[in-house]
Amino acid sequence: MGNVIELDIHTLGKGFGAEARGVDLANADEATLDALVNAFEHHGALLLRGQDLQPADLMRYLSKFGTPEEHTLKEYTLPDYPNIYILSNREVNGRKGSHYDGVGWHTDYSYKEEPVKCTMLYAVEVPTGGGDTLLADLCAAYDALPKEKQQQLDTLQLHHSYKYFMENREFGRMKLTPELEAENPDVFHPLIRTHPADGRKALWVSTGTVRGIVGMEKAEADALIDELIEFATQEQFVYRHKWEVGDVLVWDNRCTLHTGTKYDDANSYRVAYRLWAKGDKPF
Ligand code: SIN
Repeated sequence: MGNVIELDIHTLGKGFGAEARGVDLANADEATLDALVNAFEHHGALLLRGQDLQPADLMRYLSKFGTPEEHTLKEYTLPDYPNIYILSNREVNGRKGSHYDGVGWHTDYSYKEEPVKCTMLYAVEVPTGGGDTLLADLCAAYDALPKEKQQQLDTLQLHHSYKYFMENREFGRMKLTPELEAENPDVFHPLIRTHPADGRKALWVSTGTVRGIVGMEKAEADALIDELIEFATQEQFVYRHKWEVGDVLVWDNRCTLHTGTKYDDANSYRVAYRLWAKGDKPF
């Protein structure tokens, strides 16, 4: 058997998310990376602070979680690194970043048959006055529902649509090119999702890409989605991450929702690199 690494783990808040201290990611051995992935599988989110990483270091870490996923909008990726997406209000390496891309409660790539397993954000530059990322623990939200409500929601399927999302969102709204539309057909996923690591259930609701509930009138579906989003994003289920340069935060899209937040973008800059690892079909 290989070396089993004991990590110095600290809960981020309310029993959800973890910070692993004392890890130098750029020089970490394979056993340490395996231990980090193992911690991630059970905590919903994993934070490392004070890292100094090159794009290749990020790719190595991300690859431990799964196969790197491509980003839908290729124009915002880092030159030579198509799997690293630049979230920013400034130009980076001669390219404009994608500003306020993640504002609004959502889970990444939910408009695909196989949404991404995890999202990794690396803080390159942090703004003043905001720009936090909020994560909601969808397993805690599911567990807090009354039994009858869990049963009522158990068979529901959500209709996700990238086209609907991009044509209606608050920031970066756009009409899809025929190519983007063809590459991103609508998909259907269960509202209650099972985590493959240990079978825990998540209230896998979202905003943005969700355009309805299968077999339900639009008004009724919209009201139920609003109700569930409000429930799942109550303060008791939410961790607010205040970024420091060198933070690497990975969250599990199979059991969390997240949203970016606004900041003083007229007077300060935010630059973060985003990476995704491929996931599997929700069940
Ligand atoms: C995202 O949703 O991909 C990014 C969230 C953030 O910018 O904080």
